[in-house]
Amino acid sequence: MGVFRAGVLLLVVPLTGMASEPPAAIDQATVAAACSSCHGGGHSAEARIPRLGEQTAASLERKLLGFRSGSLQGTVMNRIARGFTEAELRAMAEVLGTP
Ligand code: HEC
Repeated sequence: MGVFRAGVLLLVVPLTGMASEPPAAIDQATVAAACSSCHGGGHSAEARIPRLGEQTAASLERKLLGFRSGSLQGTVMNRIARGFTEAELRAMAEVLGTP
């Protein structure tokens, strides 16, 4: 529970006010703040959360848009993905994924 609450707080703070700006200003710092609290990779507490940097950008985009639309069901990712525009999720997939 503590991990989830911390993740959601990190997500909300830096992105407030960005949701309505179409050309998504997503960079490494943004995804580090919004995503890496859960998707760090490697540590035991995070071992059950998928690692993002080992997946292609196309695969990440498909999953993120699926979480947003509801065609892909998760625990927390549906709520998180709905906090972003589709353009922002595409930009995140580009930043996080392999070519
Ligand atoms: C509160 C913890 C948490 C945060 C913060 C978080 N995620 Fe997730 N993520 C998860 C969990 C848990 C899953 C497994 C699916 C589920 O249960 O929702 C997941 C799954 C995913 C997947 C699917 C990976 C796969 O191979 O199935 C993607 C892509 C993803 N997250 C991207 C992101 C991005 C991008 C961010 C930042 C905007 C983010 N996540 C922030 C916990 C988190």
